[in-house]
This record gives sequence, C-alpha cells and structure tokens, in this order.
Amino acid sequence: MYRTHYADAVNLSAIGRKVEVAGWVHRRRDHGGIIFLDVRDRTGLVQVVVEPADETLFQRADALRAEYVVAVAGEVRRRPEGMNNPDLPSGEVEIVPTRLEILAESQPLPFGISDSNSVEEYLRLQYRYLDLRRPSLIRNFFLRDEVLSAIRHFFHHHGFLDVETPALARSTPEGARDFLVPSRTQPGNFYALPQSPQIFKQLLMVAGFDRYYQIAKVFRDEDLRADRQPEFTQVDVEMAFASQDDVLNLMEQMLHEVFAETLATELPPFPRLSWQQAMEQYGSDKPDLRAGEPLADLSSVARGLSWPILADAEAVAGVVIRQFRPSRKVLDGLVESAKTLGSRGLIWLVKANDEIRSNAKPLGEEGNRRLTEASKLEDGDALLVVAGSKWEILQVAGQLRLNVARDLGRVEDGWRFCWVTDFPLFEWSAEEERLVSAHHPFTMPRMADWDTLEDDPLSARSQAYDVVLNGVELASGSVRIHRPEWQERIFRILGMSEEEIQVKFGFLVNAFQYGAPPHAGIAFGFDRLIMLMAGAKNLREVIAFPKTARGTDPLMQSPSPVETSQLSTLNLKLVSP
Ligand code: AMO
Repeated sequence: MYRTHYADAVNLSAIGRKVEVAGWVHRRRDHGGIIFLDVRDRTGLVQVVVEPADETLFQRADALRAEYVVAVAGEVRRRPEGMNNPDLPSGEVEIVPTRLEILAESQPLPFGISDSNSVEEYLRLQYRYLDLRRPSLIRNFFLRDEVLSAIRHFFHHHGFLDVETPALARSTPEGARDFLVPSRTQPGNFYALPQSPQIFKQLLMVAGFDRYYQIAKVFRDEDLRADRQPEFTQVDVEMAFASQDDVLNLMEQMLHEVFAETLATELPPFPRLSWQQAMEQYGSDKPDLRAGEPLADLSSVARGLSWPILADAEAVAGVVIRQFRPSRKVLDGLVESAKTLGSRGLIWLVKANDEIRSNAKPLGEEGNRRLTEASKLEDGDALLVVAGSKWEILQVAGQLRLNVARDLGRVEDGWRFCWVTDFPLFEWSAEEERLVSAHHPFTMPRMADWDTLEDDPLSARSQAYDVVLNGVELASGSVRIHRPEWQERIFRILGMSEEEIQVKFGFLVNAFQYGAPPHAGIAFGFDRLIMLMAGAKNLREVIAFPKTARGTDPLMQSPSPVETSQLSTLNLKLVSP
C-alpha cells in the first residue's frame, strides 16, 4: 500500500491522523530553512512541510526536483493562521512527514505541468503522458468516465443489449473514405474499419435483439477539424418496433438523466424544428439557439418594394441586432464578410433617435420603413439584410447571425438543445455529379413524399433527425427502411444497377427477406458530447491519445513505414513512398 488518502481527501477531517500519500512533486519551495512540497496526484495537491529537525528526511526533501515520484507518510495538522489556500480541498491542512521515499526521479520536463502554460500542440502530443498530468485534462477524463457510466446505466435499465460488432468489417457508404486493412489470407481483398456499426445494428434488429446499444469505436478517413477525429466513439443505438417519436422521446430522456446525474443540471424539453424551419429561422441545420433571435423573413415584404435587387430575389433574410450602434467601419466590415460568405452584398439599416440610416439609397424612406417594421426594429437596433437564392442566402444570414453574436460576446451560457427533423432524403453531389443520400441510403422517406420520389427526389424529405447542442451536431439517426423492395427502390434512385445492389448490399436486401421488423435508431458523437460538457474547444481535450490535424500521432510516430517483408506477406507492393 502506497497511500491511505488521495490529496483531496487530506482535509480538516484528517487532522491529527497519520496518512500516506503518493504522487509527483509539483513544486518544492525553501522558506527560511523549511521545505514546502506540493505533492500532486490525480485529485490535486497536498502540502508537505519538512522541517530541518530530522536531518535524513530534510536531505531527502532537499534532493527532490519537479516531477520526482514520492511516497510520504506523516501526520496531518492545521496550517498556521493566514496560510490557508482556499483553492484546494486540502488548503487548510498540511502533512508533517515521518517518512519520505523517492520512488522515481525525473529529468527536467519539456514543459511545465500547468493549465496556464500555453504549449505548442505538437509538443503536447509528443509528450502526451506529461500533458495528461494537467489538472484540466484529468478533470475531462473524470467527466468522461461519469457520463459513460450514466449512459450505460440508462441503456441497461431500459432493456438495451450491449452488443459488440466487428472492427474488421466491409466498406459501407457513410460519406467518408474508409480506412482499409489488407487481408493476408484472402490476397487482394480488404477489410474496412467501420465508419459506424450501421448495417450490423440493423441486422441485429432482423435477428430480434429488439433494443441494441454499443459504445463503439469508429473510423473515418476525412479532413480533420476541431470537432472531427479520424477515430472517435459513438453511442450507437437501434430499436425495433419503434417510431421516430419513440427514439426522440427516449433519447431526450437519456440526455436529461445524464445531465442531471453528472452536471446536476435540469434540462428543459428540447424544441423540435423541421429542417426547413431550422434553415428559415436560423440559416443552419445546426441552429445555435444561444446566439440571439431567429432570422427575420423579409421575403414577402421585399416583393412589394420597387427596388429589383430585393423585389426580385427568391429570398430576403434579415439579422436583427438589438441595441447596436456600429461605426461605419464596423458596417463596412459586415458588408465584406457577407461577400466572403457568398452573398452579392449586404444592406444595413440602423435605427437611432427614430431616424433610419442605411447604405441602400434606392430603398427610400418607404422601403426603410417597411423593412424595419417587418423585422420589428426598435430604436437603437440594427438590421442586416441579404437577398438571393433561398438556401444559399439563408446560410449567409445564419452565419452572419452567429458571427455578430460571437463578436459582440452575446452568445449566452447554457445548454440549448434542439431536435432537427425531416431532413432532405437526397442531395446533389456536385463533385460526383449524382444524387447521394443526405443521411445514408437506409433512411426511410417521409410517407408524404413516397409517390414522387423518382420524379422529384430533391424535394423528398426523410424520417431522419439530429440532436443539436449549442450549434454542434451531437447525434444523427433515422427511421430505417425494413422492406427489401423499398430498399431496392432507393438504391435504384441513387443510380445503382441490379448487379451493383447485389454486390454491395445483397446481404442486407437478402436479410430483409426473412422478416425484418420496422426499426429506427441514432448515434451520438460521444467525444463531442464530452467536449461540450467539459467546455472544451477541441476533441483533443477529451481523447487521451488523439491525432494531430494532419492525422498523425507524434508520440507513437504513427502512421509509420512497415517492413517490406510485412508488405509481401500481405501481397502488397508500394508504388511510391
Ligand atoms: P453520423 O455519420 O451522423 O451518423 O455520425 C453520428 C455522430 O457522430 C459524430 N461524428 C464525429 N465525431 C468525431 N469525429 C468525427 N470525425 C465524427 N463524425 C461524426 C457526430 C455525429 O452526429 N450510422 C449513423 C447513425 C444512425 O443513423 O444511427 C451515423 O454514423 O456527433
């Protein structure tokens, strides 16, 4: 036994007791012949005071350097008057040691163990085991553990079976590139690491497992961003004999319980927006409800104006900024940023002392009045107006709304969840010049669009839904197709031949021929959830050994070259380094 107490448990309740602590020397200070040690473990710091009376002990303490590993036994006493540290749970006490052992020495560190240090990302990841000693990172992993255990508890108690699905799988379309694994025993053939357990979980529904969940590691070879890692963890869920509402209600209950248990936060019911409402009101399918009021729909009032730029536009959207008195320079900056976002321009109106200033002369007094009335502009408010083709211009307005709220520091604190439903079923991929599934091809169309799927696929909506938290997509799911002939119909609309359907998805269509129940599901980005709950800005803060933005691991030096002999065992030959 190295310890009786963690650092944070050495507090007033331990006064007069003999304790043993073990950890790292966070700091050593000499004060008039007395040595103060801050010993750190995963819970925090505790102060150890070494007085010169015991010479061996004192010499040993004197030899200590930062990050030496020590075990200390001693008696807990109250700190002298005025020496308390209110920031620490152990801040009112200190240990007077009777034993001090050096368990390991440490070289000087490449960077200090402190949250206030700003250390270059590469170096942090190269010495990740040191980086992970920082208190804020350790805290994130405690949170991760708490949330995971609350989630497991919820699913277990609602009758979900935790089933593991293969990591060596088959390439399935989820929109990203696959990581491929060459097969040694089947030369020329490859496994793919799963982009999600999608097909397996649907097959488990055919098997009759009824309720499945899995904390699944999944892999996607795509360009990385702050909220995207090449391997990440999903909370993956599927339910048979379930409707969209069943999934939404249960998953909302899950999030309510997890937030209550782990952050002591009571969430309000989540608003539900259709994709069209989200786009029209927030210019985004991931609306951030914290960033001010919805967009003003100015399309109909614009149609009555005489100025063709507004009157003839397919859509006109306004961003209302309350109590905002921008300088000309700030307004010019907003015009420029609207152009960078893809708008041809931006009209601004500022209402002050009951007068309206604007950069659009042709609007005239009448035009100004109609626009400000339609957007309920009050004295001291400003209005930004963009016009153009509907979905593009809504996105520009939505981004302006976000930028302005961020720049003015007006993004509120708190947890603003919402559901977004009724996503488009298909999208046009300009890159591939063909129709692709907006979610994935196993998603059920909305019944109202059933008869016009072939004639007007881009207008079809699906029974797909997302959970959005503070403007971040946290989860996606859908009601699935469960009849083989429906699934084949969707594959055909996606341009697949009968042969292609058989080769790529024959196993699924075949499985559906043996009695597939109606089913629906969802998958949460678990790392994203923890990132948001921890208030972190990057997934790297909540993943123990993440990859850099270039997809590398500076610590293990992966990816790495392999021996030629390994390649030939796999029947592979490199064509270029
Ligand atoms: P989707 O592809 O939307 O759906 O993924 C589900 C959730 O996973 C998270 N996510 C990521 N997190 C970190 N890094 C990434 N690169 C990354 N990509 C996605 C997001 C996202 O909402 N099989 C379907 C789900 C279903 O239909 O049941 C799927 O995987 O939070």
